[in-house]
Parts: sequence; C-alpha cells; structure tokens
Amino acid sequence: SRVARPSRLLCVVREQFSPKRNLTKEARVAVLGAAGGIGQPLSLLLKQMPIVSHLNLYDIAHVMGVASDLSHIESRAKVQGFLGPDNLRPCLDGADIVLIPAGVPRKPGMTRDDLFNTNAAIVRDLTAAVAESCPKAMLGIITNPVNSTAPIASEVLKKHGVYDPRRAFGVTTLDVVRSNTFIAEAKGLDVSKTNVPVIGGHSGITIIPLISQCTPPVSFPPEERVKLSMRIQNAGTEVVDAKAGAGSATLSMAFAAAEFCKSLIEALNGQEGKVQCAYVRSEETEAKYFATPVLLGKEGIEKNLGMGKLLDVEVNLLKAAMPELIANIQKGEQFVGDSK
Ligand code: NAD
Ligand code: LMR
Repeated sequence: SRVARPSRLLCVVREQFSPKRNLTKEARVAVLGAAGGIGQPLSLLLKQMPIVSHLNLYDIAHVMGVASDLSHIESRAKVQGFLGPDNLRPCLDGADIVLIPAGVPRKPGMTRDDLFNTNAAIVRDLTAAVAESCPKAMLGIITNPVNSTAPIASEVLKKHGVYDPRRAFGVTTLDVVRSNTFIAEAKGLDVSKTNVPVIGGHSGITIIPLISQCTPPVSFPPEERVKLSMRIQNAGTEVVDAKAGAGSATLSMAFAAAEFCKSLIEALNGQEGKVQCAYVRSEETEAKYFATPVLLGKEGIEKNLGMGKLLDVEVNLLKAAMPELIANIQKGEQFVGDSK
C-alpha cells in the first residue's frame, strides 16, 4: 500500500545514515613513512574509508602537519601523528595493519636494487618495532626493493619469534592495477571489470603479468602481447623517467596500497572471497617468496591460489625471472643475518 512504502523507505534511509552502519568493527591502521610521496595520498585514501577506525601516522619528518590536516576531514577514522623514533612504538600499539612506505625512491637511471643500501636498514628497524609492539598485525611492505625488503621483514619477525607467513606481505598491487589499466585500454574493456593476475616479484623482469588469465579473456597477436608485458614490467621506470628526478610513482601506488588494505580489512572482518596478488612466503617455485593471487581471511592469508596454468611465453618469463628473484631474496636474508 501507499502507506507501507514510505515506511520501508524510511527504514532504508535510517539504516543508510545510522552512525552504527558498517562501523561496529575497529580497524587500526598505521602508516610508517606517512609524510612521504606515497604516505600522504595513501593516508588520505585510508581516512576516507568508513571501515578504518584509527589511522596512526608515523614519519621522521613533517608528519604532525599531515596528521593535523587529515584530522579535519569529516570521516570516521581518528587520525594521530607520531614524529620520530621515540614515538614509533606508541604509533604501533594496537595496530591491526601496518603499511610501510618509508624510504627513498628511485631517480632516473637507478634500479630498485640500487635503493637497497638505504632502505634495507629502514625496513629492518621499522619491522623490529612492529615485532615488539604489534606482533599480530598484518604487515604490508611497500618500500623498495620489495623483492628484498619483504624477506628482510620476514627475517626480522623470525628473529623476534613472531613470524607468521600469513601476516607478511610485499605489496605488489600496483603491478595488477597497471596491468588492468593497460589491457583494458588496449581492448576497450571496462577497467572496473578487468582483472589480470601478476606473479613473481616487483622489479623489471621479475614482474610476470599473466595475460592469458585475464578476466574477461583477451587475446593479442604475439608482438603486441610482448609489448604489453614489457610495458607492465617497465611501468615503474616509465613514471620515474616522467618525474625526471622528482621520485617514482606515488599517487597510483597510494591507490594500489589503499585497495590492498581495504581488501585486507574486509577479509579480517569476515567478508569472504577477497583475493589480492601479493609477494608472500611461497612454495610455488624455488624462490622462497613469490607473488601470486592469495585468498585473504580473518587471519591474513587463508590460501595461496597459485599461479594456475601458464602459456609457454609465460613459462619463459618465469624462467627469466628466477635468478634475479632468488638473488634478491638471498641478499635480503643475508642482510638480516649479518645485522646484529
Ligand atoms: P618519499 O621520499 O616521498 O617518502 C618517503 C618517506 O619516508 C619520507 O617522508 C621520509 O621522511 C620517510 N622516512 C625515511 N626514513 C624513515 C624512517 N626510518 N622511518 C619512517 N619514515 C622514514 O618516497 P615515496 O615516493 O613515498 O616512496 C617510498 C618508497 O616506496 C620507495 O622506496 C619507493 O621505491 C617505494 N615504492 C614502492 C612501490 C611498490 O609498488 N611497492 C611503488 C612505488 C614506490
Ligand atoms: C613502481 O613500480 O612504480 C615502484 O616500484 C617505484 C619504482 O621505483 O619504479
């Protein structure tokens, strides 16, 4: 009846605007390196997510201004800034998720591995604080070279006796974001419905897009497929060169990390079917760490979904990637082994 309809509508409106809607679960996210090129837009995107209840921002410079600025935004997350090493542990206390984009970015002509000397120690020391303050947190390493820094983080967690491979991630979401964008553009697809898994690692030839497993299925002439694969592998360098000395990808990386974090929180909150590609401890290949799609759950990684069936061209990409990936992993492990 006419009377019943408005009252049902009212219920829907009430539910939509109820302050309790979607807000029952707490999700405390800490960003380490929050005042940087990635850290700032990432924190902005996290601040906009109704599923984030607390946003703790840490950096060794400028972070109090970033936190003050973000804290004026009329969204749920309570923002707090933490400046300098004395405030690192308070920043991490109670965190459910820790994202680390702290460290230096590339300039033109550099490889990601050229960042190792500076960034390895940053990731080691920040992860040690995570191990002590919030050992059960999900940890997402963004700092390059991810192929080495994610193993460094895992080794540090092991040293502290708190390593759980289900909770440690190298963030490679940007490779998927790029693959989706480039392939949707090439085929005129709706990018929001395009999904290309990317496996391997996160540098040059270790990035392996599985175009054959794209949803929806796509086909390309061989030369075009090779060109697309190479563009995906070199996309980071494309941005580094375009920025001409002013750093590497920050905005697209912030988007990618925010998407990854959202999936993780949703899975921790019990939503089923959340899948993300990530660089994780793996038995898929002879490399101890390897990116594949993983199913996320309440404890982190619920299941490694593996790499599926590869085309011959993809098997060749995999073979080409292995020596560099394994060397990058060993370099990271060795660094922690050699650290006091
Ligand atoms: P940036 O220089 O703009 O910001 C880095 C921030 O880290 C700065 O605010 C700096 O003060 C802070 N920092 C440095 N040492 C710190 C420490 N010990 N503790 C806390 N904070 C510290 O750099 P950016 O553009 O944000 O890039 C950050 C890192 O992310 C780089 O290593 C870059 O290569 C990497 N990156 C990774 C991906 C990926 O796909 N995983 C994508 C893009 C960039
Ligand atoms: C990227 O892929 O954009 C990042 O790894 C940054 C870089 O150095 O390319």
